[in-house]
Amino acid sequence: MIIPIADRMSRIGTETAFAVSLEASQLARQGKKIYPFHLGDMNILTPSVVMDAAIEAMKQGKTGYAPTAGIPELREALAKNVGTARRLNLTADNVSIQPGGKPTIGKFILVVMNPGDKVLYPSPGYPIYESQIEFQGGVGLPYGYKEGRDGFILDLETIRRSIRAGVKILIYNNYQNPTGASSPPEEMEELARLVLKNNLFVLSDEAYFEIRYSGEPMSIATFPGLAERTVILYTFSKKFAMTGWRLGAAIGPVKVIENISKINVNDESCSNHFIQYGALAGLQGGSEGPAFIIDTLKARRDVLVEKLNAIPGIRCFTPEATFYLFPNVTGAMQRRGINNVEEFRKVCLHETGVSFCTRRHFGRPLPGETEQYVRFAYSGIDLAQINEGMAKLAEFLT
Ligand SMILES: Cc1ncc(COP(=O)(O)O)c(C=O)c1O
Repeated sequence: MIIPIADRMSRIGTETAFAVSLEASQLARQGKKIYPFHLGDMNILTPSVVMDAAIEAMKQGKTGYAPTAGIPELREALAKNVGTARRLNLTADNVSIQPGGKPTIGKFILVVMNPGDKVLYPSPGYPIYESQIEFQGGVGLPYGYKEGRDGFILDLETIRRSIRAGVKILIYNNYQNPTGASSPPEEMEELARLVLKNNLFVLSDEAYFEIRYSGEPMSIATFPGLAERTVILYTFSKKFAMTGWRLGAAIGPVKVIENISKINVNDESCSNHFIQYGALAGLQGGSEGPAFIIDTLKARRDVLVEKLNAIPGIRCFTPEATFYLFPNVTGAMQRRGINNVEEFRKVCLHETGVSFCTRRHFGRPLPGETEQYVRFAYSGIDLAQINEGMAKLAEFLT
């Protein structure tokens, strides 16, 4: 029998980082000690204020369907919280609760993009943008990042060039996975100017807005004229260490949000009911939980940056947000006579147990890319393991 798989499935991508995970766990099963820097998952407990409220809600019978766009209390609380942090005038109507941050990507594209429309997206970047654009028949135009003085900066020249080729949508991820880039105010202002001048619509992926170690976070939606044309991807996953709970939101102009909620009706009906009460308690619970998460992550970042920069041929910035590092490993590869970054990853994994992703896991390389990068995530590995793993990697590469 021929199994009928629709043609469109040939266009959908995946997160190839999961293949790294599989490889690492196979080695672990064979008894190899693994240092997991590959996945952006977290080994930090969800704050108890969230857990307690979710358990209580379950006991109170919040186990049936919830309203499609989310419980009104949570939508209102998010409108207030996100509105205050970004200086936006939001109401519950601007918020559609989602089962995670990720669903907002595909639903946003489904609602605003017609087949054939051109969409700017970051590469290296979260691989689901490229996957969803192509799956839904759009034309993806990637833009990259360059090494600046203190961190990665947007390749605005490529963005300007693509806009001249007729772009409808911009996907922008500030604070960025995988580079850890934070746009300085002038960079974000220039991007906002280009968006307005060229009448673009924006998906602002703000999954890491609250995972910040210094400075004030900024959203492109705050610039005059941008709120009307921007949907914010919000997630509870990172801020409250809730990756497996699956809760987030699409936040933006009412017309788009209503259409996104219509897709909820067709897809999952609603997000998990009692979890929404947990998230609500988290939002109301002050900063106690998130502050612990940030302190834990910051201590890991500081050690890891120092250890990476101490290895000959590795150069690494200290990002002020996210829990990712994107070191340049070109020199370290040359020292070992390796040209291919995937081969470098495998050698390091098999020889030292240190497991990380490479630039290749975050979209197709762009023309003219000559330097080699890998991504270290430090959200799922504690300090003692970071120290142990990095000692092995340093010994192997020095
Ligand atoms: C940039 C970015 N956007 C969205 C997501 C999805 O978040 P969630 O786990 O809440 O679906 C992630 C997850 O790693 C991410 O890195």
